[in-house]
Amino acid sequence: MEILKTQNVSKTFGTEENPVKALCDVSLSINKSEMLAIIGPSGCGKSTLLHVLGGIEAPTTGIVSILGEDLYQMNDSKMTTFRRNNIGMIYQFFNLLPVLSVEENIVLPLLLAKKKPAFPLDELLKDMGLDERKTFLPSQLSGGQQQRVAIGRALISKPAILLADEPTGNLDSKTGEDIVALLIKANQEYHQTLIIVTHDERVANHCSRIIRMEDGRIVSQEGGQ
Ligand SMILES: Nc1ncnc2c1ncn2[C@@H]1O[C@H](COP(=O)(O)OP(=O)(O)OP(=O)(O)O)[C@@H](O)[C@H]1O
Ligand SMILES: [Mg+2]
Repeated sequence: MEILKTQNVSKTFGTEENPVKALCDVSLSINKSEMLAIIGPSGCGKSTLLHVLGGIEAPTTGIVSILGEDLYQMNDSKMTTFRRNNIGMIYQFFNLLPVLSVEENIVLPLLLAKKKPAFPLDELLKDMGLDERKTFLPSQLSGGQQQRVAIGRALISKPAILLADEPTGNLDSKTGEDIVALLIKANQEYHQTLIIVTHDERVANHCSRIIRMEDGRIVSQEGGQ
């Protein structure tokens, strides 16, 4: 079953005199429970694609539909609710709130959505190796610990779609493997659809499809349908 689709999505940043084409004509169909990797050189548009899929950055042209709904035709409040209910985003640069503690950052999406956690918070903190840091502020954490908070925040509500931008990019190999195991569990046990931008072979090796981008375009695909 198709869960996510883009049709001829393009995104241009910058000004009319100085346009930066970040995405060109990206058409993609992703099935429920797929685990898909996006790879490609720096600046090729991977983060932009993830933001467009996650309802954060409207495309300049083209259509993004999720669960049969045209994402960018929704009004703001519908979009916000839809995102909270269906999409978990792990940002490349974490986007943690600096004044909130580790545990507050993780549960914030639940408070906003007035939802119960899909996992006990203490269990998730332990899985993330953050149980001894739960009252710390982001500024008191290492880069890898901040990354794990960002991952915990996306996992806690068990969203149908997880969009992860280099989720193991700042982690040592042991912690990276623990996080890879959690992502695989999300996919195999909970049937969450995972779209992961990654340079990490351990992650890509578990993906059923690998999409390669260059200069804003999809240039090849391995595996999948
Ligand atoms: N908000 C923005 N304003 C202007 N240009 C942008 C903006 N965001 C991205 N770009 C440009 O769009 C292109 C794609 O950027 P993007 O962040 O998607 O690349 P990426 O593949 O994620 O790179 P990396 O691997 O380094 O994270 C780049 O040329 C970048 O400079
Ligand atoms: Mg990026």
